[in-house]
Amino acid sequence: MDSGAPDKSPNVVWHKPTVTREKRETLHGHRSFVLWFTGLSGSGKSTLAHAVEQALHDVGVSTFVFDGDNVRHGLCSDLTFSEDDRKENIRRIGEMTKLFVEGGVVAMTAFISPFREEREKVRGLFPHGDFIEVYCNCSLEVCEERDVKGLYKKARAGLIKNYTGISSPYEAPERAEIVVTTDRQSLEESVADVLGYLGERGLLPGER
Ligand code: ADX
Repeated sequence: MDSGAPDKSPNVVWHKPTVTREKRETLHGHRSFVLWFTGLSGSGKSTLAHAVEQALHDVGVSTFVFDGDNVRHGLCSDLTFSEDDRKENIRRIGEMTKLFVEGGVVAMTAFISPFREEREKVRGLFPHGDFIEVYCNCSLEVCEERDVKGLYKKARAGLIKNYTGISSPYEAPERAEIVVTTDRQSLEESVADVLGYLGERGLLPGER
């Protein structure tokens, strides 16, 4: 982990723990890593993240899901959907997931995280291979048709500004480790794709 002094608080010194990430992973019986779900609103990020969490929990994996809507009620309740605030949102979640991974937990995030550069910055916080991007690829038409929260309709009517896919861009990943086409495959198939990838990488319990 980074031990450099922070820019704004130069007198803060990093404390090196004796209980390390590796020891926590050994205690838990599995590796820790991040599953970063990205995609349009309504593309199924939260549904998939929670379904994968359940499947992992069932085989004894310590997990935690950070969900966009929930986090925006607390940790990020001061942030709007302006470009700068979205960047700050992702920065905070990135730092938070880093702490969870240090804690030996499989951290999962379900944020639109529309900007490629911000996602790449988060990737850069982790050792190679520990950041696993899962692109929930779903056409805007299908997301809009689903319109679970009725927000696309409001965005189309001009009642919500900077709405991703309508009046704010979504930059699809170019090198996501996992791509699930959530408008064409079932939830079970998507869960199987994620678990299949983790199995191949030897990231499931007992595969250390
Ligand atoms: S992100 O862009 O900063 O990653 P985040 O995932 O936290 O977004 O929040 C997205 C959720 O907030 C959407 O699923 C939707 O319910 C709600 N939302 C409210 N306003 C907007 C907006 N302008 N653009 C996108 N989502 C919005």
